[in-house]
Amino acid sequence: MFNTEVLKIKDSLIEDNAIDKIAETTAIKKAAQYILNNEVVAFPTETVYGLGANALEKQAVTKIFKAKGRPSDNPLIAHISDKNQLPVLIEGDVSGVAEELINEFWPGPLTLIFNKSMKMPQVTTAGLNTIAVRMPSHPVALALISKVNLPLAAPSANSSGFPSPTRAQHVYNDLNGKIPLIVDGGICNIGVESTVIEIEENIINILRPGGITRSMISEVIGDAYQVKIADTAEVNKPKSPGMKYKHYAPQTPLWIFKSKNILVNLLSEYNINNENTLVILSDESLNNVDENDIQANIKNMGTINNLEYIAQNLFNFLREADQKGYDLILIEEVPNKDIGEAVMNRLKKAAVKII
Ligand code: TXA
Ligand code: MG
Repeated sequence: MFNTEVLKIKDSLIEDNAIDKIAETTAIKKAAQYILNNEVVAFPTETVYGLGANALEKQAVTKIFKAKGRPSDNPLIAHISDKNQLPVLIEGDVSGVAEELINEFWPGPLTLIFNKSMKMPQVTTAGLNTIAVRMPSHPVALALISKVNLPLAAPSANSSGFPSPTRAQHVYNDLNGKIPLIVDGGICNIGVESTVIEIEENIINILRPGGITRSMISEVIGDAYQVKIADTAEVNKPKSPGMKYKHYAPQTPLWIFKSKNILVNLLSEYNINNENTLVILSDESLNNVDENDIQANIKNMGTINNLEYIAQNLFNFLREADQKGYDLILIEEVPNKDIGEAVMNRLKKAAVKII
């Protein structure tokens, strides 16, 4: 058991992207010391909070799996702050389309799969011959990684299976007592995890849709490659082992409902038009319901014309609903385009029913 400490980085330093100054704060000095001692530390990234440890040390990485309760066959992403940290992680050089994508999207929410170097402990990659790598853009993440000058293995800093954390408080709720330190860098901007891609001959396989959208990738690489979302039905022989686990789920049962359905009819059909149900609705749908017909609690997720906002707040909506103790959460589907693709991917994995 740890007496988990939460140390905040000033908002102004984050807004100014003052990586060098952040690296000199007490929070980062302490965090770096823990990492060098093979402990794990939670830190913010632009997507979600990560639970980091030295990716090159088996003993350190094992503690990540333990703190989260993560299955040992689900590999981790190595986070770097500089391309010169790549050779220790990967086999061979980076070239071609991988290089183009890195030049365009790093630092940022794009994770690429490479063949792994012999120096990597098996535990980090869960025994795979490949390794996932990304360079986050959050200045606190960059400050910490460059301070220790080591790649950090870091999954999302939630208890395994729960919604990812987008605020330090979310990490605290899940991992209090299990880790020594949470570096609080405010609210994560993007709110859903990085896009994980694998490059094959002529195909970019999106193993997990995320912060970098399919169209952003297509725009960079043109027609030479087909960009497709990996088939999540392949769960028995998953390309990305994380695809087979139930994920991102609040403890309260979550149902997705299709926007074309009439809400008030659904609520009465399923006998759930009562105050124990929370309905999370878009602005647009909210304008179409007569609130007098609805006894369930309503939460506005914002307009479907601002999918970035919905992505940014998604996990917080789910976590808030859990804290309030509803029996059921009903959430409206969002358009399956742009970052909505990542939102729908997470919702479908979290939901027990789609109506
Ligand atoms: O935005 C993010 O990616 C966040 C922040 C903290 O950087 N991290 C994150 O890590 O979401 P995690 O562990 O929650 O999800 C990593 C995903 C999993 O679905 C895992 O199966 C996949 O990446 N993955 C990791 N290594 C892989 C590999 N070698 N091949 C295929 N998939 C891999
Ligand atoms: Mg995760």
